[in-house]
Amino acid sequence: MNKVTSPGHTDQTAPAGVRRRPSVIPEMGESTDRLESLRQEEYLQRAAQAAARLSEEIGRPLTFQVVTFGCQMNARDSEKLTGILLQAGLQPTEEEGADVVIFNTCTIRDNADQRLFGRLGRVSHQKRLNPIMKTAVCGCMTQEPGNVDKLRRSYPFVDLIFGTHNLFRFPEYLYRLLSGEKHIVELWEGTDRIVETLPVKRLYPFKSGVNITFGCNNFCTYCIVPYVRGRERSRTAEEILEEVRRLAADGVTEIMLLGQNVNSYGNDLEDSISFPELCRRVCRTEGIKRVRFMTPHPKDLSDELIEVIRTEPVMARHIHLPLQSGSTEILRRMNRRYTKDQYLELALKIRDRLPDVALSTDIIVGFPGETDADVEDTLDVIRRVSFDNAFTFIFSPRRGTPAAQLEDTSSEADIHRRFDAVLRQVQTCARARTRALEGQVMEGLVEEVNRQQAGYVTARLSNNLLVHIPGDASMIGQYLPIRLEDCRGFYYFGKTEECNG
Ligand code: SAH
Ligand code: SF4
Ligand code: F3S
Repeated sequence: MNKVTSPGHTDQTAPAGVRRRPSVIPEMGESTDRLESLRQEEYLQRAAQAAARLSEEIGRPLTFQVVTFGCQMNARDSEKLTGILLQAGLQPTEEEGADVVIFNTCTIRDNADQRLFGRLGRVSHQKRLNPIMKTAVCGCMTQEPGNVDKLRRSYPFVDLIFGTHNLFRFPEYLYRLLSGEKHIVELWEGTDRIVETLPVKRLYPFKSGVNITFGCNNFCTYCIVPYVRGRERSRTAEEILEEVRRLAADGVTEIMLLGQNVNSYGNDLEDSISFPELCRRVCRTEGIKRVRFMTPHPKDLSDELIEVIRTEPVMARHIHLPLQSGSTEILRRMNRRYTKDQYLELALKIRDRLPDVALSTDIIVGFPGETDADVEDTLDVIRRVSFDNAFTFIFSPRRGTPAAQLEDTSSEADIHRRFDAVLRQVQTCARARTRALEGQVMEGLVEEVNRQQAGYVTARLSNNLLVHIPGDASMIGQYLPIRLEDCRGFYYFGKTEECNG
């Protein structure tokens, strides 16, 4: 464990008044993680006492808001932060200006950074209205060198900054925050610890992400994730399956296995089971009806995984398989470690063996040096695979990544023209794939009340397609047969189908 900055507080032991556990905490190993959990549980009790005192002073319960940017990993981390805040006795609120506001940041592209700055800009005004308001910033952005200084300079009212590697110490930081400490900065460069025993509050009662690996070893040249999330670490299969069993007992029916490259699950463990085998075991856990995963890297998606998806009906009929570019030369410069032909071979094999599985992808346009001919290759792959859905991004240089050093020869106008061409092509394919399902009856899991359309709820099909059907909140969490009636581009309006026996 390496601390980069930790002004004001480098103490490894419990605070005064907290019963001390062994004062020297060894650096590694499972027993260490258990000790750390106990230590944080103690801090959580202290945080609850501090919250109770504060709320007595102001004569009302303390409120909190966790604002999440970024991917499923961050969403899962926010569920952990929320679980801890609830356990400390704070009450959630949707309104800006809560007593404790946590910004869980993403830094994958520059626009993610800008969105955070926009939100932080409003905080100083809110702090004037609510003088006890405390603000914390955590997540990927804080791990990027330079950002913390920038945050502290531009937003000096931020009370707490912590990183991705020490999120499990949030009870301790919360206690310090509620005790009135200011300017707390706690960042670690990395960790070999996995502490996953603190309370978690799920956003949805019926579905949950489950981390299987943390970090990434792939170092795609454009990507900041390996720098802000550290090296890849897998949880043991027993731990993962135990968490899945606990979630199932608590009413969860859909699991999303989370990792930056799920296919390399277990490579860092001795005698580990493979990712496909892990999927099979999760599928066969009592109570689990759907299993998704995010994200598989095309360079090592195995036949074994395809076979598990083919033979386990519980596996969702959806694979998100990021392409990034269709040009072999750009892929090489991105360090993706597959060629156009290898990607095509894999995607078409999936289409052939798993005809009911939807394929979605991520594409980056505007990588330095990309030409019209490269983009033609991308368009060619899109046409040949005919993705069911795709997220298209404009390359955003991230400080410290190799691609940020590369010189770009294209004008902004060129990049936008290419981006539009890619977007048009993915939309054409996605519309056609979506429309082809019209009239079918498929099982949907009702996720939420539709906010746009009164009297409707939104269900997600196993292939990840959304369908709006007449209904109300009592249907949330149910699996229902749904007829896909009215295709609206990338989603449907439909209705529940009566079961005929
Ligand atoms: N681990 C996952 C993706 C993580 S980031 C994977 O390998 O697929 C999600 C997506 O953001 C990536 O697939 C990529 O398309 C996009 N992305 C990452 N870094 C980017 C950058 N610097 N500029 C633009 N898009 C980027
Ligand atoms: Fe980033 Fe590549 Fe790792 Fe995905 S696999 S997180 S794109 S470095
Ligand atoms: Fe963003 Fe971090 Fe995820 S940079 S995409 S929140 S891993």
